Amino acid sequence: MPSLSTLLFASFPLLLIAIIWQNPDPIIKPITGHIAFKIIRQFFETTHCYVSVKTNSARLPHAECFSVSNGKFSRVFIDETSFPVVKEARKGHVIPGLWDGHGHLLPYGELMDSVNLFGAQTMDGVKERLVRYKASRPEAGTAEQWLRGMGWDQANFEGKWPVAKDLEIGDQFKDMYVMLDRVDVHCIWVSEKVLSLLPNPLPEVSGGETPAKGVFCDNAMDIVMKYYPKPSKERKTKFIKDAMWELNKLGIVGVHDAGVFPSELELYEELSADENWNVRVYAMMECETRNTFCPQDIAKISTTNGMLHVRSVKLFADGALGSWGSAMIEPYSDKQSSSGSLLINATTLSKLTHEWATAGYQVNIHAIGDLANRLAVDAFEEALKGLCPGSTLRECQSQHRFRIEHAQIIHPDDQRRMAELGIIPSIQPTHATSDMPYAETRLGKPRTEKEAYRMRSLLPLNPVFGSDFPVEPADIFEGIYAAVTRRSPRTGLDAEGGTKGWYSSETVTIEDALEGFTVNPAYAAFLEGKAGVIETGAYADWIVLEEPLEAVDLESLRKLKVKETWVGGKRVYKRAGPEEAPWVQN
Ligand SMILES: *[C@@H]1O[C@H](CO)[C@@H](O)[C@H](O)[C@H]1NC(C)=O
Ligand SMILES: [Zn+2]
Repeated sequence: MPSLSTLLFASFPLLLIAIIWQNPDPIIKPITGHIAFKIIRQFFETTHCYVSVKTNSARLPHAECFSVSNGKFSRVFIDETSFPVVKEARKGHVIPGLWDGHGHLLPYGELMDSVNLFGAQTMDGVKERLVRYKASRPEAGTAEQWLRGMGWDQANFEGKWPVAKDLEIGDQFKDMYVMLDRVDVHCIWVSEKVLSLLPNPLPEVSGGETPAKGVFCDNAMDIVMKYYPKPSKERKTKFIKDAMWELNKLGIVGVHDAGVFPSELELYEELSADENWNVRVYAMMECETRNTFCPQDIAKISTTNGMLHVRSVKLFADGALGSWGSAMIEPYSDKQSSSGSLLINATTLSKLTHEWATAGYQVNIHAIGDLANRLAVDAFEEALKGLCPGSTLRECQSQHRFRIEHAQIIHPDDQRRMAELGIIPSIQPTHATSDMPYAETRLGKPRTEKEAYRMRSLLPLNPVFGSDFPVEPADIFEGIYAAVTRRSPRTGLDAEGGTKGWYSSETVTIEDALEGFTVNPAYAAFLEGKAGVIETGAYADWIVLEEPLEAVDLESLRKLKVKETWVGGKRVYKRAGPEEAPWVQN
């Protein structure tokens, strides 16, 4: 709404114009018409000026001001004093709102309501956190509401898998329903009470393992999930709200939600119209049964407020490296008997890719190991050959924009094939720095050097960057730091404890990393020109920083905090702190 001063300011010239309008002088009329247009426009716009505005747009890379109307940028400009513009001017430096190209919204919110086991270095440490959590949540652990947690790692239990019995911690934990996700969410560890619900003997599943009594990995997790009491709609709503608030605090305005079930989509649709839904969601749909074709259960959506977009699906080729689940062409270097396992065979993967693409969906395949990545490229190539008669595979790919989620370990041949076809890699820079302590042991040096955690090599493909939250912290500046330094954002150090960076030839520049979290995810979500950029017609999403991003020194980057986050022209987060009086010009 225009302020009273704006109204007064504008009404006088309007009156003047109305008078001049009566006098149709051929020279004066166009001028007054132009002035009238500018003044009237202000009623529908809000103009914001900052010390600097980095736009990510080739049209005007560096601006000072922009106007917002109807949730979108209506003008972007360098402050001209030739005409008085009513504007709010603030200190600070602006960059486009950040996007996480691969995160999990509901699990992130759910984790905030669960036991956080990340970084617990021993079994006793895990138990201590469970006890502390339970003391404040008497309702958790019942048959209706299992006690949930996430972040354990058998590497912290001297390499031994935990067992169900470990969860019987004193009397309080007897008969409790407990389910704890491994750090990479590819295994769960459950209590005896949960085991008692399951069929005996356990059914055989392909593409899954039960490495210990009470631990279920990959497809074997489904055995347990069948009995898991899904959180109520009220709790899910709370998870989403909590998650969005937390993401806004980090400067995140959009996320590619990497696995949304049809049953959740209904809730998303309902909530996305709510004024508290402050993160744009590009949802990758997953059928209730993984790796199937279920177009009848979902619908392509793009809400008018731009807060929810559905036109992609997620398929899964393999599991994770941490639990030797990723499918490799050659055996693991530290487990010669195994080369991981595929969750789907090549025939089915190709068939599903083709079916979904024909139904108009972008296909995003989770692939970590080099065999899984190879099958993903095979499936895409085969689909592209059939999808666009008369055009090249590359042109066809630019219509379908197939992507590989994680794209972690890729054989050089397949890196080349990806480059030729233009397959989009969706990379999590902090996975590289989290896995670097063990990746080389697992893969051996040559494979690590040529295949693993490529970043710079994949830049020509405009890779999407993400965090995979809640698997990693959602903080995008940690991701930028990891990509730019190939060092852990937690410690600032590489795998050797030095500062050179882990396989530092794969580092990227800050500029590249920022593109990975802005314009690249926009393209990979068919939102180019709408997201990740400050230009006319784009969603009015931006964040305010204390300094220009280029000026932040590397070591401060990983701890960088945003001042403000704006989504659709609305401020959704403002950091509390010493108040700076916003100065108003004119
Ligand atoms: C691939 O998997 C499908 C579904 O599980 C199965 O029907 C088919 O026989 C498998 N094909 C091959 C070649 O193993
Ligand atoms: Zn994920």
